[in-house]
Amino acid sequence: MIEFKNVSKTYPNGVVGLNNVNVTINEGELVVIVGLSGAGKSTFLRSINRLNEISSGEILINGNSITKAKGKELRVLRRDIGMIFQNFNLVKRSTVLKNVLAGRVGYHSTLRTLVGMFPKEDLELAFESLKKVGIEQKAYMRADQLSGGQQQRVAIARTLAQQSKVLLADEPIASLDPVTTIQVMDDIARINKEMNITTIVNLHHVDLAKKYATRILGFREGKLVFDGPVEKATDEIFDFIYNGKTEEISEN
Ligand SMILES: Nc1ncnc2c1ncn2[C@@H]1O[C@H](COP(=O)(O)OP(=O)(O)OP(=O)(O)O)[C@@H](O)[C@H]1O
Ligand SMILES: [Mg+2]
Repeated sequence: MIEFKNVSKTYPNGVVGLNNVNVTINEGELVVIVGLSGAGKSTFLRSINRLNEISSGEILINGNSITKAKGKELRVLRRDIGMIFQNFNLVKRSTVLKNVLAGRVGYHSTLRTLVGMFPKEDLELAFESLKKVGIEQKAYMRADQLSGGQQQRVAIARTLAQQSKVLLADEPIASLDPVTTIQVMDDIARINKEMNITTIVNLHHVDLAKKYATRILGFREGKLVFDGPVEKATDEIFDFIYNGKTEEISEN
């Protein structure tokens, strides 16, 4: 359902972020992206919702080109893609509820959302989303009064309220302690399974990648150098992704 066709990205300063990437990610997968710092993991993820413009190639979402989409078509495609970040990206001084309602913005006119007029169904959906991550009792607190793990759950709830079909997570646990890390990764994995949301996570921890992924993509210097099910991602493969020579392995 997410298809990269000959995708390359060169930044304006000449740095190659992605080097001719071809890959198809299927509905419901939980894909973990691994690779050294600078390998292109964030570039890959941010290309999917066009936070990054690619330089060549094409990305299709359910057969629709997000690369070519403009205006309303782009907005509608983006609505189906939720994203969470290492630093949570919440509006800190707003309430938890308002942050979650922000997930609904793509469904309404700008004016309506500017004045905070969300329909009753949106409020119900926001509370339901908060319940799914176990923090509905925090709805009226200011986002910055929550712990890091709770803030990441607000961000997850925002994507649930968005009713996106895809969840992109760029190092979602990098700012969290080990216990909270497991809770947030469990939330992500549960949502992936229960709601069949295609999930792509950038992670630095090999152990977490092995624990949660159904499929591993390994990047090195902008190239996809490993693509296979988690069972095939042995220690030798991880060693190859992090240290090996540039030659591709596909275990699919
Ligand atoms: N805005 C930018 N302008 C120029 N170069 C960039 C930009 N963003 C990323 N890069 C470069 O592109 C390459 C890939 O970066 P990217 O952020 O995708 O790596 P990453 O795998 O996510 O790394 P990390 O694990 O450190 O987050 C790196 O060499 C990086 O320096
Ligand atoms: Mg990154």
